[in-house]
Amino acid sequence: MCSIIGYKGKDFAAPILVNSLKRMEYRGYDSVGVATLDEGKLLVRKGTGKVAEVNNKLDMSHMSGHIGIGHTRWATHGGVTDKNAHPHAAGDNKIAVVHNGIIENYKELKAELIKEGYIFASETDSEVIAHLLHRYYIETESIKQSLIKTCKRLQGAYAFVAVFQDGTIGGARYEEPLIIGVAKEGYFVSSDVLGFLEHTDKAIFLDNGDITIVDNDKVEIFDFEGNPVNRPITQVAWELGDIDKGKYAHHTLKEIDEQKLSIIRAYNQEEEKIDEFCKILSAAKNVYIVGSGTSYHSALVAKHVLGRYAKIRVEAIMSSESKYILSSLDKDSVVIAISQSGETADVLDSVRLAKNQGTKILSIVNVTTSSLARMSDSFLGTNSGPEIGVAATKSFTAQLIIIYSIADKLSEGKLGLDKEKLIHAVDRMLSNKSTVERLAQELKNHKDLYILGRFLHYPIALEGALKVKELAYVHAEGIAAGELKHGPLALMEKNTVVMILNPHDSTFNDTISNAHEIKARGATVVGISDSKEDVYDYWIPIPALSEEALYPIVEVIPLQLLAYYLAVGKNVDPDYPRNLAKSVTVR
Ligand code: AGP
Ligand code: GLU
Repeated sequence: MCSIIGYKGKDFAAPILVNSLKRMEYRGYDSVGVATLDEGKLLVRKGTGKVAEVNNKLDMSHMSGHIGIGHTRWATHGGVTDKNAHPHAAGDNKIAVVHNGIIENYKELKAELIKEGYIFASETDSEVIAHLLHRYYIETESIKQSLIKTCKRLQGAYAFVAVFQDGTIGGARYEEPLIIGVAKEGYFVSSDVLGFLEHTDKAIFLDNGDITIVDNDKVEIFDFEGNPVNRPITQVAWELGDIDKGKYAHHTLKEIDEQKLSIIRAYNQEEEKIDEFCKILSAAKNVYIVGSGTSYHSALVAKHVLGRYAKIRVEAIMSSESKYILSSLDKDSVVIAISQSGETADVLDSVRLAKNQGTKILSIVNVTTSSLARMSDSFLGTNSGPEIGVAATKSFTAQLIIIYSIADKLSEGKLGLDKEKLIHAVDRMLSNKSTVERLAQELKNHKDLYILGRFLHYPIALEGALKVKELAYVHAEGIAAGELKHGPLALMEKNTVVMILNPHDSTFNDTISNAHEIKARGATVVGISDSKEDVYDYWIPIPALSEEALYPIVEVIPLQLLAYYLAVGKNVDPDYPRNLAKSVTVR
């Protein structure tokens, strides 16, 4: 859950590494570090903070040498301190390592290594990798053997890259991504194609259990037994590297705005791929949809639209819960996995669990080069382009478009997916942000926020609450409107703010009654609706749509914007919320 990068080539390594880390910073950003090798000497600079801050302080990008590794950290073991930042060195600076993931058996390994005299400089789990590599290198005098023996000792999930004093770069992948970039001027080993896409579009995707050695202009890949394995060079799309903020102050706002285009791109699917998806779904006896966070909210919407329109009964499951639930699948079941990154550990675990039971895997995924896409029997790409803001925005609405496309196809058009109208409605929502901006100003000192909705609007209430929590650090709760009387009504009093998702559809009459109940308790009611009602203290207008299934796409936009403006109003960086990372590749 961080970024790792290694480079070996003709150019100076440090500026390349620092730049790569900036491009991948969204993956984890509490500390940064770089190690380069110059004339047989390993130099390490590292510290807490964002890449630009640490670079300003330590001038990492001017370190000498043509070989090096770098890391941005999202701490799992050991506090956010300079010492715990990666790279970790071993053997009197003979080896340095960067690691992404968690070494579950690090305590035993650490105890064993300490007994042998190894001295640990950090509290991290990762440091054991550096010392193990050193120990096995001393024992075998072979870098290959040291990598193999080290991997065999590690339990947990990891991708690591190590630089050795002789200039060799080694790396290994086990349940965390690791990709080699093959450029004219050298080789990259990175956790994300964004780490090298500025230099090359030629990538080798390592598989679980692959070890690599980049040495003297060649790449060697082998398994944990040392047998050579062949991985093809794939060409990745250059657009994946488009991560410029342009005129925007933040990626998050840019990505919210991009929804005008990204929903159109999500529509553009190959007919045969949609057909294949639908064929597998119609033949399935049981359908489960898994996802985490925002992607789980898409799964909840999918459950309702597939149920109502395509008459397919679906169970939506949070990926992190799936191991307790998906234990009796079979060949007639289908699991649909939804994920922006395609690297979320919980999602990949659900998929592995299902695959082991012979179940077919369909996925809806933004990063089509990801582990999830590669593990699926069939996948549909959301085509959103890179999403850098940690909060999922454009990828969410793109997921919904794909879900609607499938439900529309399976129901022979009953969903009524009017593409032009929807695009126009999204455009309208994004052209006028001032109402939401003003509301954010009004609400900025509130400590709690409730969002209410029924049926399809309930997942949007959950999604809106998630956005407000993660971006603005405000406690927010999505509530199923009908459940209000079963408890949450007790919270309603003067100063409580409740946002109500209330378009004119089958839920309108029931939800407006809830608005009155809330108002009667003295709370403030914000209506997100296509009509203005007296009960609303504030009204956020949304365009009227002919088909109710489509409202989630337009009503989530003001909630995304609200979370964004609340964050900006509180002076917190919406792109990089504290304690979070974009791809959660740990359990
Ligand atoms: C959303 O705003 C969050 N950052 C998070 O919940 C995210 O949706 C979740 O981690 C799932 O990620 P994925 O779609 O890449 O699998
Ligand atoms: N577990 C390691 C640490 O806490 C690596 C975390 C990461 O992936 O950034 O340092």
